[in-house]
Amino acid sequence: MRPTPRLLPAILLAIAGCGGGPFPQTTLAPRSDLGVTVDNLFTDIFWWAVVVFAIVEGLTVDNLFTDIFWWAVVVFAIVEGLLLFVIIRYRARPGAGQPSRLHGHTALEIGWTLAPALILVFIAVPTMRTIFATAARAPEGALRVEVIGHQWWWEFRYPEIGVVTANEMHVPLGKPVQLEMTSADVIHSFWAPGLGGKRDLTAGRITRIAFTPDSLGEVAGQCAEFCGASHANMRLRVLVQSDSAFALWVARQKTDAAVPAKGSLAERGQELFAHGACIACHTIAGVPQARGVVGPNLTHVGSRMMLAGATLPNTEEWLRRWITNAPSLKPGSLMPAMPLPEDQVAALVAYLQSLQ
Ligand code: CUA
Repeated sequence: MRPTPRLLPAILLAIAGCGGGPFPQTTLAPRSDLGVTVDNLFTDIFWWAVVVFAIVEGLTVDNLFTDIFWWAVVVFAIVEGLLLFVIIRYRARPGAGQPSRLHGHTALEIGWTLAPALILVFIAVPTMRTIFATAARAPEGALRVEVIGHQWWWEFRYPEIGVVTANEMHVPLGKPVQLEMTSADVIHSFWAPGLGGKRDLTAGRITRIAFTPDSLGEVAGQCAEFCGASHANMRLRVLVQSDSAFALWVARQKTDAAVPAKGSLAERGQELFAHGACIACHTIAGVPQARGVVGPNLTHVGSRMMLAGATLPNTEEWLRRWITNAPSLKPGSLMPAMPLPEDQVAALVAYLQSLQ
């Protein structure tokens, strides 16, 4: 069959998916001690399985992986062959009566109970050890970050340093971090695969993840528990920074919002913001009217890379579209469409972008 023009991009995409990457959400490139622990569990079980196979094979390590491949082919052929045989040989035929029943084959039953049980024990022991190891609290003095899941964005609060932000968590390299997580509404799940682990956020409960990031840069993540219409639009980023870059970020985030220049477009935007609907849901430190807590704190929204649950780049164009009609970009969004005149939207955009 020749691929139709419509099919071609899909095929190319699929091939590209199997190629070189990048894979920002791979679980196989750990970037924290927690990630390494989880990755070790996977690789340890894999290599133990290989060792067991080598012993069964009589310890000939030559062509071990080729052997494993062909054994897998043999198992596949037997299973699929039996399946096809049963489907064809014992298919329903008109006029056929009830099939006769077979009961009990003690040796077989003991065999197929014992073999999986042994395999499960073999996997369960290291798994339990890892579960206990990754449930431990971070050491004293760790950076505490409160993570609050909302439909559909992430709130990150740093209670000890007085910073509140959204969707982008900043942490310093090589320092233990203790996440204390809960939800403002339904169940969400924090998952930044590079850091390891995946843990639910439930209203009325605190769940925890502790990790120490071991490489600089961005770690992509997302909500991993279906939480409503825009579950897929609930992404997050963790930015692992050097000590000095993190300190600089903290210092800037702790300040009140920038005050726009007299007579500027941003000043008009601030006025619209402070006397419009925005303040019902958003806080801007330094703007006394803006104390809403339903939506993200916007004190330094201009310093963020992304908008709307880290799904849209924080640019003038996307901000304009977001303010005008948020639900069209994030279905179910609590932020309603704002049918404002164009000049008012432009002023609001100018103001929000000035909040660096
Ligand atoms: Cu929050 Cu899915």
